[in-house]
Amino acid sequence: MQILDGQFVSRLIKERLKMDAAALVSEGKKIPHLAAVLVGNNGASETYVTAKVKACAEIGFKSTMLRLDDSVSESKLLSIIEDLNGDMDVDGILVQLPLPKHISDERIILAIDPSKDVDGFHPVNVGKMVLGSPSFISATPHGIMLLIEHYKIKTAGKKAAVIGRSNIVGRPMSILLSTNTTPGNCTVTLCHSHTHNLKDICAESDIIIAALGKPEFLRADMVKEGAVIIDVGITRVPDATKKSGFALKGDVAFAEVSPKCSFITPVPGGVGPMTIAALMKNTFTALKRKY
Ligand code: GUN
Repeated sequence: MQILDGQFVSRLIKERLKMDAAALVSEGKKIPHLAAVLVGNNGASETYVTAKVKACAEIGFKSTMLRLDDSVSESKLLSIIEDLNGDMDVDGILVQLPLPKHISDERIILAIDPSKDVDGFHPVNVGKMVLGSPSFISATPHGIMLLIEHYKIKTAGKKAAVIGRSNIVGRPMSILLSTNTTPGNCTVTLCHSHTHNLKDICAESDIIIAALGKPEFLRADMVKEGAVIIDVGITRVPDATKKSGFALKGDVAFAEVSPKCSFITPVPGGVGPMTIAALMKNTFTALKRKY
């Protein structure tokens, strides 16, 4: 069993981007600029956005973090996005999800200029991704593909099960794994809450992407010997022994599943850091496409 070390691979990608940013500076060009919008006080969202902004600083990108109160109106948020769309210095825009209930995720995503949509959530980018055209690919699935690529995991002709059909992870992941690319060319089953025989589907799969947000859902009896396991889950579970008061749990029961597989991502340190690396890559691409 080999650990898919997202921390290590993300560092390699960020080091490369840092050199690319430094090259832009030496050519007298502008550096990539990411604008991150955080609405409200969701602890997990705050952690993620802070990590994204920190990654920008590490690699020499510019970032702007806009913190908005929970009570901000949808029209105010839309006007902020309009300003960011029109700001020539801003290359990438992300609005951290979930948003408060009174704001429509869909309307907000639609308002972002697709050429600055480094999260790859806008229908224009989703559509291009489905068609296999160059686009911004949503950071978590993009990061997973980069991880699979780094470890040269063979995917062509393999059976893959994706558990969870979210717009952010499961659905794009199922498309990317089935695309005629390397990595790709899998035969994909996209599983969800209405799927029958989930256990059997998983047990027949060479690759499993667990992205349903249920701690330790995937057990050893659902996994075949030698499978590749990618754990996207990162749920905060109360834990009095931790200073923070919670522990982070993946969707995979790591202790019992890991001895059976060929490759597995840990939580934390697997998919999470890759999401950030992919977002940085998308932000660099957003600037490059301007030239
Ligand atoms: N919420 C959970 N994952 C993401 C992500 O990748 N981007 C944004 N904007 N919000 C998220």
